[in-house]
Amino acid sequence: MAANNRQEQTGFVLWMTGLSGAGKTTIALILEEKLRRRGLKIERLDGDVVRESLTRDLGFTKEDRDKNIERITFVAKLLSRNGVGCICSFISPYQAVRDRVRVNTTNFLELYIDAPLDVVISRDVKGLYQKAIAGEIPNFTGISDPFEAPENPDIHVRTDQQKPGESALFILTRLEEMGLIPAEQPTI
Ligand code: ADX
Repeated sequence: MAANNRQEQTGFVLWMTGLSGAGKTTIALILEEKLRRRGLKIERLDGDVVRESLTRDLGFTKEDRDKNIERITFVAKLLSRNGVGCICSFISPYQAVRDRVRVNTTNFLELYIDAPLDVVISRDVKGLYQKAIAGEIPNFTGISDPFEAPENPDIHVRTDQQKPGESALFILTRLEEMGLIPAEQPTI
C-alpha cells in the first residue's frame, strides 16, 4: 500500500451545553457542514436525535439525564480517541456531569451556547416553554429544573447577540488557534 503522508486528524469533542432553544443544534449543523467541507471526519450527536434511539427509554429526572450523558460519553469517547471530531449538543445541565465527560474523552471542549432565559422563552421554537410554564411538562430545564451555567467554559457564545453563522465562525477560529483543526488555506 502506498505510504500515506497526510497528517492524521486529531479527535475532539465539542460539547455544547445550554438551555433548550439557545441555538445548540443550529450552530452544530453549521459547524458539521463547514468541518466536513474541510475533509474532516465528523459525527454529530444531538439531544433530540439521540433520545429517539440510544436513550429513548430515558426521561428528564436528574438520574435519567445523568444516564443519557453517560451513554453519550461512551460513544464520544470511542469516536474521539479514533480521530473523529464529535459535535455534541445536549442541555447537560449539571457541571459535575460535564466535567466527567471531559475526563473520559479526548480533547474535550466545553462550549457554552448562551441565551438568557427570557430570550429562549420568547423564541419558544418548539412551543415547550409555554407548556412547561403552564405546568404541562415536569422537570423542564430553566422553568422547573436547574441549569448550571458553565463555570469556566472553553468557548462562550451569546446567541442573543450574534447570528448562528457568526457563532460558528468564532468557534472554528478558536479550534484553529488551539490546533485541533488545520487552518483553512486562503483561496487564491
Ligand atoms: S439533557 O438534559 O439530558 O442533556 P437533552 O439535550 O438530551 O437533555 O434533551 C433536551 C431536549 O429534550 C430539549 O431540547 C427538548 O426538546 C426536549 N425536552 C423534553 N422534555 C424536556 C425537559 N423536561 N427538560 C428539557 N428538555 C426537554
